[in-house]
Amino acid sequence: MSVLDTGGQYCHLIARRVRELGIYANVLPCDTPPERLAKCRALIISGGPASVYAPGSPLLHPGTLALGIPLLGICYGQQIIAHQLDGHVEPGTKGEYGLAHLDLSPSPLFAGLAGRQQVWMSHRDQVDRLPSGFRLLGSTDTCPIAAIGDDARRIYGLQFHPEVVQTLGGRQILENFVFAIASCVRDWEPAHQLPVVEEQIRAMAGDRSVFFFASGGVDSTVAYTVCLRALGPERVHATYVDTGLMREGETEFVRGVFESLAKGSFTVADARQEFLGQLATARDPEAKRLIIGEEFVAVQQRILESGHYLDGDWILGQGTIYPDTIESGGTKQADLIKTHHNRVAGIQKLMEQNRLVEPLREFYKDEVRQLGRALGLPDALLDRHPFPGPGLAIRCLCHGEHAKLEKTEDGWLMPVRTVGVQGDSRTYRAVLVIGEPDHALATEIANRDARVNRVVACLASHAPVGDLQVFPSNLSEQRLETLRQADALVRRLSDESGYDRTIWQFPVVLIPAGTPERPDSIVLRPIDSVDGMTATATAIPSGLASEMTEALLALPGIAAVFLDLTHKPPGTIEWE
Ligand code: XMP
Repeated sequence: MSVLDTGGQYCHLIARRVRELGIYANVLPCDTPPERLAKCRALIISGGPASVYAPGSPLLHPGTLALGIPLLGICYGQQIIAHQLDGHVEPGTKGEYGLAHLDLSPSPLFAGLAGRQQVWMSHRDQVDRLPSGFRLLGSTDTCPIAAIGDDARRIYGLQFHPEVVQTLGGRQILENFVFAIASCVRDWEPAHQLPVVEEQIRAMAGDRSVFFFASGGVDSTVAYTVCLRALGPERVHATYVDTGLMREGETEFVRGVFESLAKGSFTVADARQEFLGQLATARDPEAKRLIIGEEFVAVQQRILESGHYLDGDWILGQGTIYPDTIESGGTKQADLIKTHHNRVAGIQKLMEQNRLVEPLREFYKDEVRQLGRALGLPDALLDRHPFPGPGLAIRCLCHGEHAKLEKTEDGWLMPVRTVGVQGDSRTYRAVLVIGEPDHALATEIANRDARVNRVVACLASHAPVGDLQVFPSNLSEQRLETLRQADALVRRLSDESGYDRTIWQFPVVLIPAGTPERPDSIVLRPIDSVDGMTATATAIPSGLASEMTEALLALPGIAAVFLDLTHKPPGTIEWE
């Protein structure tokens, strides 16, 4: 079956949820010609930010609604159905975002669900007249037409999002749609695809070999391993670039994994001096990113040329996954990562010459993990938290001039600026320190005080917060080493306590705020997330927090330990 993309952030989540039910789902543009959809068992139209009345807004090809294929429109998808049939959509001004309670009528779509359901709403416009042949299937207090259906034509619409976990009966609704209504048959188990993927690799490679830039991340390692299985160790090679910006023990960890997969088909390129030399005086987050991006380009080009990988005997392997291949569904990060890797002239050339193999381009992240397990890769690799390509450089903050903290009505304003996000725009603002780790208060302040995009609580300090100062600072080897030690310490304690497995990611950040003897401090940033696009700042169990702060305050040069209380938005996950 296919999910028709109307530009919403949830499009990939819908396809993932359907695949979790054992049904293959791909994502197609919503105006895909009906001829291309005719063989589908079912179609789902995703939600999206547009209004059907906006010029150029995404609409279905008119023939799609006449195909006779079971169709489920979600959010904007329901509005498209009403608008393109003979219903009506009322343009909204306020919008409704968050939890609501749906009172539902019996319907095949709601089989097995009680009459009142918690659902997640995120919309402005809403349907105010049903198309002919449809009946009302559910309402909430503020949205009278929250679910509609035409059982004869098997077309349904939901104003709420069944794909998010906050809609408690969402999985049941999707199951009802794909199995009971659309009669789909289970046809998808990622690990069963391995022989097909191997065959695709052999067909693409012919008698050529495959070269990878390994990052130590899940995607490139699984892609490499499946190529190894398809072609054998003599025909697959990987190089890992050591930038000097990695965590403690990273290069050894990656070497250990790759050497155990195939001895001799892995090399490490030591580029530490190049990266650290170029970054020595950079302070601004964008400047750091640009330098790292350009240095990657230079190093990768050098490796491609010196290893003769641009000759006709080689093709390039990449760990690109499904969301990265689809423009509107890929996260901004995915785009960024892609430009880094694809910008190298040599790689561009290989792509143009059809010499690129991306064995995971059909799979989602969770599925890549399943493939990795089926291939026998260790959990220590597959269950790793995401780690940014630019490494510790974006967790080591720098500052231009000496400055003091300023007292405000809520706490202390610390003039260390960090990157945040509001709507689609980036912010670069100061940090506010409050007394207690109160997440609700932090959210309220971040929304109210335009000077800040981040709120932290001081967990422990060698000096009163008001006495801390911000010092001029660079990305020096010494500061990176302090951060590396702090990160290793936090990781060890978080892992040993089992806390690490309960969260999505746990960045540890070094900021240049402290005392003359101890000029830096550490920020702990544990967060929960589904895909990194939004995130919730999480608390640390108090025993673990005390253990961490005590150990961190014992590190040379560390004056205080803070806990970041900011959700994304308005803060990003990384501080940059
Ligand atoms: P932000 O800070 O934008 O991060 O909220 C969202 C997710 O993306 C990761 N991240 C990166 N990953 N290269 C990567 O491979 C990068 O340049 C990069 N920047 C951020 C971040 O760790 C989080 O998981």
